[in-house]
Amino acid sequence: MLTMEGRRYLITGVLNSSSIAWSVSEKLQNLGCEILLTSTRSTRNMTERYAARLPIMPDIVTLDAQTREDYALIEEYIDGKWGYLDGVLHSIAYLSESALNGDFLTADSDAVTEGFLISSVSLQLLVANLYQLLARSPHGASVVALTTDTRRVLPGYGWMGVFKAALEAIGRYLAAECGRDDIRVNLVAGGPVATAAALSVNRIGSIISYYEQAAVLGWDATKADPISDAVTFLFSDLSRHISGEILHCDGGAHAVVGEVASTAGEPLRSGE
Ligand SMILES: NC(=O)c1ccc[n+]([C@@H]2O[C@H](COP(=O)([O-])OP(=O)(O)OC[C@H]3O[C@@H](n4cnc5c(N)ncnc54)[C@H](O)[C@@H]3O)[C@@H](O)[C@H]2O)c1
Repeated sequence: MLTMEGRRYLITGVLNSSSIAWSVSEKLQNLGCEILLTSTRSTRNMTERYAARLPIMPDIVTLDAQTREDYALIEEYIDGKWGYLDGVLHSIAYLSESALNGDFLTADSDAVTEGFLISSVSLQLLVANLYQLLARSPHGASVVALTTDTRRVLPGYGWMGVFKAALEAIGRYLAAECGRDDIRVNLVAGGPVATAAALSVNRIGSIISYYEQAAVLGWDATKADPISDAVTFLFSDLSRHISGEILHCDGGAHAVVGEVASTAGEPLRSGE
């Protein structure tokens, strides 16, 4: 029987209750899993406030993705607390305002480098630092990261689109190296959800409208649930032979071009 009772996960990226990571945390706790959250130094109060709304208040450790020592301290903490880890959710993205919504050609290269380290390289840093804990999972460990549809330009994403493409490549290279220790690495490419990170993209409204039109199953950008379900699948034993995968969770929008599907509930436009 499928059970996730007692599984142990490190969850990054809970900022508030709109965060995709918050929805994953709630789901995992409802399935009987134990979780440990990370927060940045500057957002600690906010993470604590919203963590308190989860079914069980989890411990919170500090992770500023660009601070190398934080990774080692988290490894030490988990080693003392659990001795192993069944999985990690990478749910981190950052790009300063100038490089995010500004002109791609003139984006400040220091801002780009900082954003790349925080949004992409941090996946490799997490797995590298937690490797022995993941390898000791009695169940086979699962690492999941969150991306977007990187095959096309998303208006306003700028360098974030590039960071996500890199994150996907990092996921594949990690999958190739970690498989020998029964650690799988996958990504969920989610449709848009109205979180703090998404709302910092000034053209997010047009991206949401596009997905609402294109998603053959419909898409509701106020709900992170579909994405957290997909993450939970990748954490569960049901995905035990899946690695190096990018699982699209966007109501099917990635599979079509333009407004093929119309809105959810209406018939497809066949034969027009
Ligand atoms: N919301 C969407 O439309 C959408 C769609 C697909 C993928 N994603 C991805 O999902 C992930 C989670 O984003 P979200 O939409 O839940 O937004 P969110 O704003 O709730 O989460 C982003 C998280 O990144 C963390 N973060 C930022 N800088 C950091 C740093 N230096 N060190 C450590 N953590 C840092 C923030 O504290 C926050 O918790 C991101 O990778 C995002 O790109 C989001």
